[in-house]
This record gives sequence, C-alpha cells and structure tokens, in this order.
Amino acid sequence: MTQQPQVKYRHDYRAPDYQITDIDLTFDLAAEKTVVTAVSQVVRHGAPDAPLRLDGEDLTLLSLHVNDTPWTAYKEEEGALVINNLPERFTLRIVNEIAPAANTALEGLYQSGNALCTQCEAEGFRHITWYLDRPDVLARFTSKIIADKKTYPFLLSNGNRIAQGELDDGRHWVQWQDPFPKPCYLFALVAGDFDVLSNTFITRSGREVALELYVDRGNLDRAPWAMTSLKNAMRWDEERFGLEYDLDIYMIVAVDFFNMGAMENKGLNIFNSKYVLARTDTATDKDYLDIERVIGHEYFHNWTGNRVTCRDWFQLSLKEGLTVFRDQEFSSDLGSRAVNRISNVRAMRGLQFAEDASPMAHPIRPDKVIEMNNFYTLTVYEKGAEVIRMIHTLLGEEGFQKGMQLYFERHDGSAATCDDFVQAMEDATNVDLSHFRLWYSQSGTPVVTVKDSYEAETRQYTLTIAQRTPATADSAEKKPLHIPFAVELYGDSGQILPLRQDGHPVNPVLNVTQAEQTFVFDDIASQPVPALLCEFSAPVKLEYKWSDGQLTFLMRHARNDVSRWDAAQSLLATYIKLNVNRYQQGQPLSLPVHVADAFRAVLLDEHIDPALAAEILTLPSVNEMAELFEIIDPIAITNVREALTRTLATGLADELLAIYHANRLGEYRVEHKDIGRRTLRNACLRFLAFGEMRQADALVSRQYREANNMTDALAALSAAVAAQLPCRDALMREFDDKWHQDGLVMDKWFILQSTSPADNVLETVRGLLQHRAFSMSNPNRIRSLIGAFAGSNMAAFHAEDGSGYRFLVEMLTELNRRNPQVASRLIEPLIRLKRYDDPRQAKMRAALEQLKALEDLSGDLYEKIARALG
Ligand code: ALA
Ligand code: ZN
Repeated sequence: MTQQPQVKYRHDYRAPDYQITDIDLTFDLAAEKTVVTAVSQVVRHGAPDAPLRLDGEDLTLLSLHVNDTPWTAYKEEEGALVINNLPERFTLRIVNEIAPAANTALEGLYQSGNALCTQCEAEGFRHITWYLDRPDVLARFTSKIIADKKTYPFLLSNGNRIAQGELDDGRHWVQWQDPFPKPCYLFALVAGDFDVLSNTFITRSGREVALELYVDRGNLDRAPWAMTSLKNAMRWDEERFGLEYDLDIYMIVAVDFFNMGAMENKGLNIFNSKYVLARTDTATDKDYLDIERVIGHEYFHNWTGNRVTCRDWFQLSLKEGLTVFRDQEFSSDLGSRAVNRISNVRAMRGLQFAEDASPMAHPIRPDKVIEMNNFYTLTVYEKGAEVIRMIHTLLGEEGFQKGMQLYFERHDGSAATCDDFVQAMEDATNVDLSHFRLWYSQSGTPVVTVKDSYEAETRQYTLTIAQRTPATADSAEKKPLHIPFAVELYGDSGQILPLRQDGHPVNPVLNVTQAEQTFVFDDIASQPVPALLCEFSAPVKLEYKWSDGQLTFLMRHARNDVSRWDAAQSLLATYIKLNVNRYQQGQPLSLPVHVADAFRAVLLDEHIDPALAAEILTLPSVNEMAELFEIIDPIAITNVREALTRTLATGLADELLAIYHANRLGEYRVEHKDIGRRTLRNACLRFLAFGEMRQADALVSRQYREANNMTDALAALSAAVAAQLPCRDALMREFDDKWHQDGLVMDKWFILQSTSPADNVLETVRGLLQHRAFSMSNPNRIRSLIGAFAGSNMAAFHAEDGSGYRFLVEMLTELNRRNPQVASRLIEPLIRLKRYDDPRQAKMRAALEQLKALEDLSGDLYEKIARALG
C-alpha cells in the first residue's frame, strides 16, 4: 500500500464549495481505450479562493479548459485534480483517457463479455472522469456515445434518446438526455449487442412508458419473467405508495460480470444477469422470486433513491433500508406474507446478528468509513429495513403513507438525510420518534429478556421486559432503545385473550423504552401462553424460559403463521444447544419423542399452508445455528445438524413419504400455491435422503431424472450431495455435461460442490478452479465456489489444520489486485476470529497478518483486516 487509507467521519460533512448544474459527456468508445470529454457548468458557493477539488482515479489527463481557455493552474494529486484561480461561474472542459478492458475491478466503465457497461455507485464515476463524486452534487446529464456499429449496435445511457447518427468509418453515435438532475453515482452507459424484449406500461395517469429489457443474444426466452416482474412493480408502487414512473422509457440491461446484485441508474438499470434470466429448466422457484424482488427493488429506487437521494454516503440506509422495506412489502403483497417475513427473520438472525457481533459492527447509519463499498451490508440494508418496518408498526400504514408524502413534498429533487426522513414521519403524524432515532446511531443487537408471572387471585398476568445491548466492536456504551414489542396471550383452548388494563384495551405492540419495564394485564382467567416478539416486531434477540409444552402449543395454536414457525425455531434451538453440548462431551444426539411429534403434527395438519409447513420443516442453517452460541464450534454444529436431520428422518419416515407423494405436481407453473407445495415436497425429500440408504438413493435419483424443472432437479441433486448418496457422483456429472456452457446454472453446481460435507471437499474446490465453467474474473463464479466454501461450509473452512484459511488467503491474494470489492466480501468469515476457540483464532490471526503484509493491499481489505486485528 502506498499510503495509509484515510478514515472519513460522518460528522465532518460540509456542503461542497462548488456545484455542477449541467454536464455534457462525450465518449469516444472502445474497449482498449476510451476518450471521455466532460463539459460541466460549475458555480462556486464557497470562498473566492477555494480550489475546486475533483475526484479521479486511474485517469490520464489529455486537456483542461476553463471557459475555452487552456488552464494551467491545476495540480494532479493522488485521487484528485485540484484546480485554482477560478471565476465564480465557468464552463469546465476536461478530456481524459481510460482503459475499460483493463478494468478488472468492475467499477467505473468496464467490459462484460463483449459489452461495455458502467457501475458508478458508490464512487465509480471518478474512474470515468474527474468530477465532484459525491451524492449531494446533482446535475443534468447529457451523454453522447460514439462507437463501432458492428461491435456495439446498441448505445444506451440515462433518460431519453435525443439524437443519433452514422459516421463514415463504420462508427455510429447516440445522444441521451436525462431531464432529472442526479448525482453521478446514478450515471450509466451500456454499449453492446443484445436481444431486446420490448413492452409498454400505461401509468395510472395515462402516460405510455416504453419498457426495454436487454439480454445477451440467444437469451430472449429467459427474459419474460423479469418483464412481468417490472410491470407488477410499476403497478404496485402506484397502488400501494401512489408513486408513478416519471420518464418515457425504462431500460434494464443484464450483464454477466457485476459486483453487486443490480443498480438503479436513472432510466437505465444495470443488472447482474442472475437477477434477470429465468427459464423453467434453468431457474428455481427461489430464483424467480429473487428476480421479482430485485427488479422491484431497483424500480422502487426511482423514488426512494433517485428522486430523493442521499446527502452523503453515511446516509446510505436512507435509500437502501427504505427500498428494502418497500421490496419486502411488494413480495409480501404478491406472494405469501408469512414466508417472506420468515425469510427476512432468517437473514437477520443468521447473518445480520453475526455482522453486529463482528469487527465490522456499525450502526445502520455508519459514523466512520474507509472504503464505502464495505458498507453495502446486511446492517445498512436488512436492519435498515427493520428500522423502517418498526416506524411502520408505530405509525400504522396510513400514518406511514402520510409520512412518505410529506417526505417527498419536502425533499423531491434533492439530497436528504436519515434525520430528514424521520422528521417527515414525525411531522406528518405527531408520533414522537425522538427516542426511536437512537436506532440510527447505535449499533448492536439488543437482548430482550422477558419474565412473566400469573396470579390466580387477582387474575393478573405480568410481563417484565428488560433490554440490554452488549458492547460491539465499534462502541462499548449502549443505551436502552425504543422497542416496539408485539405480544399475544393465548388461553387453554388456543383462544386469543383480549389485552386489558384498568378497564381499557391495551395495544398489543408494547412500547418498551427503558432498561426494565413491567406490563400488567387484567382479567386473565388462567395462566396464559404468551407469543412474544410477534412477527419479529423488532430486530432483537429474545430470551425467555420457554417450556417445550408452551412451544408445541404455539406451534399448533398461534394464529399468526410467523409465530408458529418461530415457536418451532425456539424448540429446535433448545435441542441444538443441548446436543452441541452433548457432542462436545462425546455423547450421542438426544431428542425427546414430543419434539418429533410436534413436527409430525405439522406434517399431518390438513389445514396448514404447505409453504408454512415447509418453512417449519426446514432446519435452521448452520449459520443460524451458530448464532445461538457465543463461541462457535463448527464441527459440533455441523454434526448435530446432520444427526438431527437423520433422527427426524427416521422418526417421521412414513409421514414424510406420504406428504412427498401427495404433493407431486404436473406442469410447472410459477404460482405461489404451487411453489408452496413444491417447497414442502422438497423439504420432505431432503429428510428422506437421510433415511434408509437404498430407498433414499432410488427416490432422489428418480426425482432428478424425472424433473421437468430446475427447482425439483436441484432439490434432488442437493439432497444427494448433502446425504452423500451413491447416486451423487453420477448426477453431478450429468448436470455438468448438460450445463457446463451456462455460467449461471453452473453456479448452483459450484455451490453444491463447495458446500459438500465430503471429507475431501477442499481438494475438490481447488481442482474446480480449473473447471471449464469457472473463471476468476467473474464475481458470480467466485462467490459460488470460493465464497460459498468460506461462508457456508463451516466445518471445512474452519478445519482444525488451518487448510481452509490458507486456501482463502491464496484466493484473496489474487483477488486483492483483481477485484478488491469482491475480495472484501469474501474475507468476512475470516475476520470473525473472536467467535472461535483459541487454536482457530491463532490460525485466523496469522492468516490475516499474512494478508495485511501484502504490498498492494487494497483499502477495502485493509479496513476489515485492521478492524479484525485491532
Ligand atoms: N444501489 C444498489 C442496490 O442496492 C447497489 O440496489
Ligand atoms: Zn438498493
């Protein structure tokens, strides 16, 4: 590293000395060398002698003019062009050169396959030209793209196409104009050859919007679902939020090389092809739902992100938390609300809580950042969405929508802060959110401890609710938060008991605001069973001494599906903890009959939604299980999970097989009812794979060979690998033979390989680095093979001999140079060393030290390693 990376602090925010009102870009485009001409209208707001500091990285300056005069009063510094002696208003003309084909970091303008495309969030625009690369500088953009017509028949940018023409030398050009002022992180350019799926959408005010979906040639039959999802998203945002699209054209381009999921560039979304392409035989139900969600997410950003953007990057959750909340609601309104909620809760408990407990712990609005790309996190996104959801819970749908309206009235067309958002919510409803605001500045996962007592004489039931937030890596002192805590009380026969106090009804969402508080409920005839933190009303860990009887009761009677699932989770948690302990003492798994019976009852319940039954029957992932422990024993957890699977598979064999056969479907349709039944059937198959071996092998290979869709094929393949069935190798080979030319499909296969329980998994993974479908320059492949190994194969990654750590160090050494952003995602499991025993910690520390010593260590990795070792 040439220079110690600089820490930036939220509190240092200052408005810029200059604003750019308009920018006119011209790209003379070619993969090896592109010449960028940027003509900007600049106005000074700061002191007359303030220099103009423009951000820029890896750029070659060709010329610089101010008001058409060649300018010499400037100097180039690392990461900046500093220009002096400037008038108050001027036209700045910069010409510079970049090399897209050499850009392996995939930030700025780069090559994806044969196309050229951009990714500018967070700070990629500075890799294109020198600019005020910060979100509070909003300018009107025009862009003219000139390129070879044969290689790049399509030339796209933001806004409306206003002119185009042909040149004599085989090149052509297109000019685009975006009428909406925007920060440069929303700029986009795409040049390439595509198949286009076109459609139209009529907005509720009657405007016609052209919809264009660009995919690689030959992929048109995988585009319709994304188009359907886009139209659903546009309609939904009108109906639920009253928000209409504002340009005449909306374009989505799918590219194979992309660091993130997708990007909401104004009028021209660029997507990881993973979140666009789907065909029955290539995509699973989950893929279809993910596409719907991400298409929705990027579309919803048009209002929450683009029309109102962030003042600075510390405010990222202003747009991300809010937009994730919106996409969650979209998925829930279109599909199963309970299943969506359960998957959000799983992500919080299995992944975000782990982030809170890691060296990278930060509030949803971070206070200090070295590399902004490191803060596109579960905390900013998922916990950010939970914070918005709590506001929604406190205000109700109507109040929340009033708050949204006021937010847009005040901030449309500008760059805002998280405080601005909360203020609008307060002002629109008169609900006091002053204490609630602490969720924005305090990191960590609160632990809420509940005790209860019942007095038959007074017919009173008392809940004592205490909260504390353990210290996190970034801050030790924590204050009590305002926690909306939803409760329900159930009587003996499963009926809901009304909540009353002193003759008045009590809101079932309790406002917990102090370190400890007591809530008394009157007129309760007998000891009730409480359902606590219903629907995960706050992102906290709940502690309560459940009895198995209470939990099996709730599994059966809770009227809310999420509560039924959560009771099952708590029941499993009890026996996971107990058995990890037993495993460590060399004892076999022990599971009381009534636990298996509770799951049997779910299988036999004729009224249960199959989608819910599937969720209840899907055991917590290894990562979710790990979060039940302060010190993680990867081997014990992995083994207990498998033993638990085998025990339930044996105990419930008949019921599992019956439900498996009862849910056989004919033609494949992406419909929620069918998805629920397929998920349940495949959850059963997963257990059955761990039953009697010969029967399991026959069942699994038959499903694989008879499957008429990827969901069922992959479920079978995945069960074969998990249970290490005899058919495994043959099926894996068949899959490879069939799909090796299709990277997205092969990602599923790479994940199965890298998360396999086989003893020689690391050797296999190393070998697959040479596989014909693998490439170290494609982020999706890297995440599937290397990322899944480190992040989801806990036993192998944390192998006692340190081989997993050594492998990751090798991979990161290579990726640090090639693609720091992807490297920085992959290093996460390694920086969480404090969660492991001393011998593992020592090995993890040594691995981090080795990386820290890299000569050209990126700021991205540096930030995480420094925090981990600090
Ligand atoms: N802003 C991009 C998204 O989350 C990364 O949609
Ligand atoms: Zn987003």
